[in-house]
Amino acid sequence: MKTLLIVYHTMTGGTQQMAEAAAQAAREQEGVAVRLQRAQACGPADVLAADGYLFATPENLAAMSGIMKDFFDRSYYGVLDRVNGRPYAAMICAGSDGQNALRQVERIATGWRLKSVAPGVIVCTHAQTPERILARKVLGAEDLARCAEVGAGLAAGLALGVF
Ligand SMILES: Cc1cc2nc3c(=O)[nH]c(=O)nc-3n(C[C@H](O)[C@H](O)[C@H](O)COP(=O)(O)O)c2cc1C
Repeated sequence: MKTLLIVYHTMTGGTQQMAEAAAQAAREQEGVAVRLQRAQACGPADVLAADGYLFATPENLAAMSGIMKDFFDRSYYGVLDRVNGRPYAAMICAGSDGQNALRQVERIATGWRLKSVAPGVIVCTHAQTPERILARKVLGAEDLARCAEVGAGLAAGLALGVF
């Protein structure tokens, strides 16, 4: 049985909803074990034990969140050259942009020689005042459906061995 690892960090809940939507859709596919893990609790052994990946992070200060970066920092060299060719996708929760966080995740995935199997998903919350940025996020059904599609696609591809 193949394993899909979904690694995420969240501060105000948006990325968590994205990761959970993807995980739920992935679990509807047969033949794949889905592991949904917070970045804080995830390290190189988890990456090595999986067959495909979904990385989900907020964009903070035009970068992936520090805790997501910490996961990659702790994992990078223990994994390098041991996951070449495995499939991945990335999702970003952003207030207004998200592009740079996506670029950063893609760059690290390129370093790991992972294979991108879906375009990055950026969900924009349009939170631009301090109050709204710090408020708990509730994402819309359309945005969550985009995340579910990525999770289902990754899981189905892993199960069928098409990547
Ligand atoms: C310190 C901080 C910096 C942020 N910087 C950006 C940014 O550079 N670009 C952007 O689009 N959103 C930015 N945001 C907004 C967050 O991306 C947005 O609130 C998103 O919902 C966070 O995801 P989360 O709900 O999973 O924590 C920032 C939020 C915080 C708290």
